[in-house]
Amino acid sequence: MAAQTNTLIRIATRDNLAEIYALARTALHLDTFTAELLDEKLFAGWCCPDTESRVHVAEIGGHTIGFLQSVLRPAAAKAWLGLFAVSAEHRRRGVAATLYQTAFLDVPREISEIEVLAIPGNYFAPGLDPRYTEAHCLVERLGFERFNDCVNLTAPLDSRFETADEETRLAAAGIEVRRAAPKDRDLLDRFFDEQFGADWRYEAELALDNNPPALHLALRDGQVIAFSAHSTQNREWGFFGPMGTTPAARGHGIGRVLLWHCLNDLRDAGHRTGVIPWVGPIAFYQQWANCRVDRVFWRYRRTIEPQS
Ligand SMILES: CC(C)(COP(=O)(O)OP(=O)(O)OC[C@H]1O[C@@H](n2cnc3c(N)ncnc32)[C@H](O)[C@@H]1OP(=O)(O)O)[C@@H](O)C(=O)NCCC(=O)NCCS
Repeated sequence: MAAQTNTLIRIATRDNLAEIYALARTALHLDTFTAELLDEKLFAGWCCPDTESRVHVAEIGGHTIGFLQSVLRPAAAKAWLGLFAVSAEHRRRGVAATLYQTAFLDVPREISEIEVLAIPGNYFAPGLDPRYTEAHCLVERLGFERFNDCVNLTAPLDSRFETADEETRLAAAGIEVRRAAPKDRDLLDRFFDEQFGADWRYEAELALDNNPPALHLALRDGQVIAFSAHSTQNREWGFFGPMGTTPAARGHGIGRVLLWHCLNDLRDAGHRTGVIPWVGPIAFYQQWANCRVDRVFWRYRRTIEPQS
């Protein structure tokens, strides 16, 4: 599987984005995306806390013929094989395998598992679309095992969701629903600290950075009890999520109102459909927003021995 001897493997920088994009947009033919979206995935530094992303490229004569992203999170004992592709005329010569071996050669010894693609907080896809069949063959050859699958749903945004009646009902029960604002940061710190953790706090911050903030809250007695977000990443695809309701507040119809607010925002931003990624409770989204299963992804992982 060794690549040709005239192949140079090195770490890429943002200056290499144009060549990597030219390669990726052809190789990743099941996806439509701009260079800005690829930049967000590979170079913009958007990742959950304690996470480092690197991109290795393979070059022949100064020309990029392949790339592979690796994401390391020693604090979680985990790494991710991110996006990767090799140009069609250079396949089956060991380029991807060499990129992989180089990228994961020197991972910190704390890391014991590598997963494919499902990078928390900044993912192109929550797993491998198995129609990328060559990639399936490659990751199996590299020792990864399929352990689960997940889906993205499509949400039709033909018409706005009417939230007023439901909000009146919730208000009568002492629950306020409103858009988050920068002044809510302390409330959000407390809420995520107690309920959903640092990764979703990070995503809530990305949502808050939108104008208007792409974050909706439900509050009781001035404390957050549920949230929903969108446009934390992959904005050009109309990305929804994450969302969460505290266990004690579930079953009161809060989640659907928060979902509707996010989908209304996506519609107002000009999207004809929204993406509900990496789901989860399909029936909830089907019932309240008429969502349909769209992409299916296979999840792969492998363990690695501690580096000596
Ligand atoms: C998947 C991909 C990156 C593989 O690149 P590559 O450089 O051809 O892979 P390698 O030559 O290093 O293959 C290493 C091993 O993987 C397996 N493999 C790779 N491609 C394969 C294929 N088409 N059929 C069967 N096995 C394959 C083989 O075991 C191969 O070893 P071998 O050639 O000695 O038998 C390339 O096909 C590609 O760019 N596909 C489109 C992009 C894509 O699907 N990306 C994944 C989504 S992020």
